[in-house]
Amino acid sequence: MNVLIITAHPEADSFNSYLAAKAARVFEKQGSVVNSVNLYSENFEPVEGKIFYPDRQDSVRFDALREQRHHWEKKILPDDVSRHIQLLINSDLLLLHFPFWWFGMPAILKGWMDRVFVYGGIYDSRQRHENGVMKGKRALLSVTAGAPENACGYNGRHGDMRLMLWSPIHALHYIGYSMLEPYLIHGVRGGLDGIAKKEQQKLLDEKVEDFENRLTNIHEWPIIPFNREDDFNEDKTLKPEAPEYSPFVRHDPDGWKKS
Ligand SMILES: Cc1cc2nc3c(=O)[nH]c(=O)nc-3n(C[C@H](O)[C@H](O)[C@H](O)COP(=O)(O)O)c2cc1C
Repeated sequence: MNVLIITAHPEADSFNSYLAAKAARVFEKQGSVVNSVNLYSENFEPVEGKIFYPDRQDSVRFDALREQRHHWEKKILPDDVSRHIQLLINSDLLLLHFPFWWFGMPAILKGWMDRVFVYGGIYDSRQRHENGVMKGKRALLSVTAGAPENACGYNGRHGDMRLMLWSPIHALHYIGYSMLEPYLIHGVRGGLDGIAKKEQQKLLDEKVEDFENRLTNIHEWPIIPFNREDDFNEDKTLKPEAPEYSPFVRHDPDGWKKS
């Protein structure tokens, strides 16, 4: 198996980077080929814009989708984007390691998606969801949060972290990935001293061990169900008889308001 591990953390000595290295070792031990990329280490430029498109189809008005497709077709995308696309295409499993920052992905990772998931190449209106370019590949988010588990749960003070990850999960599924249930590690806090630090270390050690065990048996990892194209009407709304898998695509618009 070919595994691609993308880490979005600015510190090599962080828990996120440690976890990514552990994951790499698990797969290497099993004989997989692992490519590890830290977006910060390679100074990945996450801000999509005109600067990346030297041969514009429209030199007056910048249309990112149009220029992405044009530069893909002419094979003149920036080197970093071409290299990352190749890494994605060559891998069977993608792991994204990142800390939860302001209830979502760090900007560098969002920008990586903006630039690397190129319209006309990685997706278009005919190639998406279960017909996506990445069909047959799996992806897993491994996310750490500073807040404790209770605070990130369905009734927690900070809101349901699992639901907040819908955006990257949906984006990856949109380009064809089968999405594994994300691995969340809570209570990863800096600045601790004494007993608090020791207690955190113990919990994190247990989590790392659990993560390694689960990666070793990745074929057993639960896959997130999504609606298929034929669950939707011509007008793109969910058919009444179609299953409902998430509060983001639902039958009852007010269902989430019921108490
Ligand atoms: C800019 C920033 C935003 C953060 N936002 C959140 C947040 O929304 N929820 C949360 O639980 N923790 C938040 N944290 C804490 C990080 O999630 C936590 O420090 C990180 O997961 C710890 O992993 P590390 O040791 O690998 O950095 C934030 C930290 C930073 C620096």
